[in-house]
Amino acid sequence: MTKQLTLDRRIQSLFPVALASLLVLGTTRVFLDTLKSNHSFVFQLYGRPRGQEQRPAVIISPEDRIDESCNVFEGKWVWNNESYLPHYTEQSCPYLVKQVTCQKNGRPDSYYKNWRWQPNDCKLPRFDPLKLMQILRGKRLMFVGDSVQRGQFESMVCMVQSIIPRGKKSLQRVPPRKIFRIDEFDASIEYYWAPFIVESISDHATKHTVLKRLVKLDSIAKHGKHWEGVDILVFESYVWWMHKPTINATYGSPNDVQEYNVTTAYKLALQTWAEWLESSINPERQKVFFMSMSPTHLWSWEWRPGSDENCYNESYPIQGSYWGTGSNTKIMDIIDDVLQNLKVKVTFLNITQLSEYRKDAHTSVYGERKGKLLTKDQRSDPKKFADCIHWCLPGVPDTWNEILYAHLLKSHQNFL
Ligand SMILES: *[C@@H]1O[C@H](CO)[C@@H](O)[C@H](O)[C@H]1NC(C)=O
Ligand SMILES: *[C@@H]1O[C@H](CO)[C@@H](O)[C@H](O)[C@H]1NC(C)=O
Ligand SMILES: *[C@@H]1O[C@H](CO)[C@@H](O)[C@H](O)[C@H]1NC(C)=O
Ligand SMILES: *[C@@H]1O[C@H](CO)[C@@H](O)[C@H](O)[C@H]1NC(C)=O
Ligand SMILES: *[C@@H]1O[C@H](CO)[C@@H](O)[C@H](O)[C@H]1NC(C)=O
Ligand SMILES: *[C@@H]1O[C@H](CO)[C@@H](O)[C@H](O)[C@H]1NC(C)=O
Repeated sequence: MTKQLTLDRRIQSLFPVALASLLVLGTTRVFLDTLKSNHSFVFQLYGRPRGQEQRPAVIISPEDRIDESCNVFEGKWVWNNESYLPHYTEQSCPYLVKQVTCQKNGRPDSYYKNWRWQPNDCKLPRFDPLKLMQILRGKRLMFVGDSVQRGQFESMVCMVQSIIPRGKKSLQRVPPRKIFRIDEFDASIEYYWAPFIVESISDHATKHTVLKRLVKLDSIAKHGKHWEGVDILVFESYVWWMHKPTINATYGSPNDVQEYNVTTAYKLALQTWAEWLESSINPERQKVFFMSMSPTHLWSWEWRPGSDENCYNESYPIQGSYWGTGSNTKIMDIIDDVLQNLKVKVTFLNITQLSEYRKDAHTSVYGERKGKLLTKDQRSDPKKFADCIHWCLPGVPDTWNEILYAHLLKSHQNFL
């Protein structure tokens, strides 16, 4: 309590400075956006030569602070096509993969891009890419998980890339990683393919078996060595577990393959992950996040009784309370249990409920299957071919990143 008060005071004493700098930051951003210069204004104004230890303070304005008591995961989606525009467009972000560019792939409606998440008791801070880059200066942010998590990674890259001049940023593929480097901030935003977090036979970034699954519930070292020292880690793993009620896995002897209940297997895997965290993470220097399950909208009768379709042709979010059977509450409880017992602090971003409402925001037939865009014939058979797992971008994962950003701002001010 006392600690919190002193913190608040320290932050308050920064307000006049904050307001002045906000203006400057705002102007710089417009500059960069319009000039698209190859020369780096960001670097001139705020950059520091590499290796110089002193870090400029990031200015946290009053609007950036979410109240401790506010649950940002409870709220509603509000339509706003005027003052709230997506942070980027399919055209303005060259880093989007075909799988997520729904408009380009022929999606006729674009309403899904204009819903803003409004928590009940507070406002999410306005996302400011420059501020995020200042927080990330000299750091690595890594998303670990499956293709849903890859969507969140791409969303984050697109949300920040517009302020970085051409030639000062690059996207590299180093399977199973993708690395977006931002030279002038000496920072990177990365993605690491590990659909089960622990090791499995599906770990090859592109040539992985999808139907045949075998998870090594007690093995994580091969992945873990790539996560060591990463400043901010964001984990996610869910949909790959949920193919059938049981899953082939090993635990102990690598030759002893058994069918495990998915819940049992998931728990063992998370425990392996938890042990890795406890032995490898330095809580003083590293931050860990865990994303809750991304919901699927595979059965339209769940929100429209009597129908027999899926997310295809859905243009509006679900109104009123809703929780689909695809989001397994037993798995939710396991995550809760494992995180509660961890000695390392992991921030749980419980985005399931807010995403549950968004039956309209999946790629549906305007995405890929087995790495190829759907053919016309396949598109005309949405029952068989609609993808109600992945999300169009810009879209729902941008909101997850706004929430992640809010937390990064919050934890950053604690280090002021
Ligand atoms: C920036 O660089 C690209 C290629 O390197 C060039 O085509 C473009 O004209 C440059 N833009 C400006 C504003 O100098
Ligand atoms: C915004 O949405 C409203 C209601 O759907 C519509 O009438 C209006 O034309 C839209 N405005 C813009 C700028 O798209
Ligand atoms: C487990 O592996 C066996 C042998 O390959 C296979 O017959 C069985 O269907 C698999 N079980 C699951 C749940 O995939
Ligand atoms: C696996 O799940 C089934 C159905 O949920 C349950 O009946 C069974 O007891 C479970 N087995 C184990 C080993 O937990
Ligand atoms: C899509 O939904 C609209 C109503 O929301 C309906 O009129 C139209 O026939 C549907 N299209 C298809 C291809 O199912
Ligand atoms: C996540 O949110 C849902 C819906 O609000 C809630 O039922 C669930 O208990 C939460 N999970 C955890 C682990 O807090």
